[in-house]
Order: sequence, then structure tokens, then C-alpha cells
Amino acid sequence: MENEKIVVGNLKTKMNIEEISQYLKVINKEVISEQVIICPTSIYIPYFLKQRYKVGLQNTFINEDGPYTGEITPNQATSMGIHYTIIGHSERRINLNEDDELINKKMISAVKSNMNIILCIGETIEEKQMLKTDMVLRRQLVNALNGLSIDMLHNVIIAYEPVWAIGTNNVASIKEIERTANYIKMIVHQNRGYKNMRVIYGGSVNEQNIKELNQIKNISGFLVGGASTDTDKFLSIINEVVVNQ
Ligand code: 13P
Repeated sequence: MENEKIVVGNLKTKMNIEEISQYLKVINKEVISEQVIICPTSIYIPYFLKQRYKVGLQNTFINEDGPYTGEITPNQATSMGIHYTIIGHSERRINLNEDDELINKKMISAVKSNMNIILCIGETIEEKQMLKTDMVLRRQLVNALNGLSIDMLHNVIIAYEPVWAIGTNNVASIKEIERTANYIKMIVHQNRGYKNMRVIYGGSVNEQNIKELNQIKNISGFLVGGASTDTDKFLSIINEVVVNQ
């Protein structure tokens, strides 16, 4: 699994139950690869379980167990057979004020529960324009991975999701993604002594640009938002990345 490319579908808060039911009719029949991880809104997760693809959470709580109204703990997730979680998505960093310290607590709690983590990092347009991309990525990485041993890092995948590329149709260029993926790998190596960090790209990935994006050699797959909620588009992306691999 470690060398195989993955496609993660982040369904965010899209679709009502009727739409989910239509979506599942297609997805459960057509998606037969364990390299695909679908992260639905939590209340819908039971409808997605026990299929041939994997299921992930969009977020987890900072402690493994305990009374925390409204949250989902990593132990609860694994008890249901959910072994993946997204952590640190920019929509949570921005709208819910999630900071690096909180994200680090979530990372530690999730790895302790043996979950695989998709850690999202990325700069805003203002940070990019001020040439702060590398500084921001370094800070987000170093803080999020603080205290994680090399063993634990095997269960982490970094999703480079520039905030300016999310939901904008402004996909990052091949060069930008390649350079940034190398930079991320270098920081993790320097800072945590772990050489083989997997990096995936997210931000306006769609059925039209996937062929070109899939040529990038140093990334291990894609995190797809909007296009993952459209079955035709999502299947085209999956076909390109995992079926024709
Ligand atoms: P879009 O694919 O809609 O740009 O969203 C990307 C994203 O935020 C996935 O986590």
C-alpha cells in the first residue's frame, strides 16, 4: 500500500441524504479499489462502510476517549473500521480557528489509535504573494509533527493544499507542486529524520486536469473536494490514478 497512489475524496458538507443515496448507488458498484478513501460527512458514514474502498473521517478529536459533546474520538472511529482521518484542513484552520497546537494534539491522538492521517497544509494567497509559502509550510509541518516518532510517521500522508487553489479552479502548476512536494519531504527528513514522507496534492483537481497532474513523479496521489461529489468526475479521476497505474 505504501508505494501505491491514493485518491482521497473529501465530501465536506456536500449532499443531503437523498443525494447521498443516489451517489452511493454508483460509487458502491464502481469503486472497487482500496487505494480510494472516501471521507463523507460523519452522520452519513455508516452508509459508506463495508464496501471495497476505504472510509475516512474529515476530522478527529484531540483525545482518544472521554466525554466531549459533539466530537468523534479516534478510538470510536477505529472501532467502526474507520482507519483514516483528515486533520488540519484549511477550512477548519480558517473557520474554526484550529491552530498548530490543536492540530498536533489531534495528530498524536489519532496515531496512538492506529489511524492513518492525511495532514493538510497550505498557504493562503496573501502568504503566497508575500513569498511566505515555504515559511508557512515549514511551520505547519514542524508543529503538526512535533513528538511523532518515525514509526508513527509511517501512518501520515501530507496533503499539500494551497488555500488559493481550493474550490477556485486555480490549480497549482506542475512545477509548483513538484517543488513543494520536494520541499515538504526535505523538511520532514531534516526535522524528524524520516526520509520517505508521502505527499499528495489537493486543490481544484478535476477530471480535466488529472491526466497532466498524474504525471508528477514525486507525489503519491490526490485529495479531491468538489469533483469527488460528482460520480462521473470522481470515477474519471480514480480511473486515471489508481486503475491505469
Ligand atoms: P476542491 O477539489 O473542491 O478544490 O477542494 C479541495 C479540498 O479542499 C479537498 O480537501
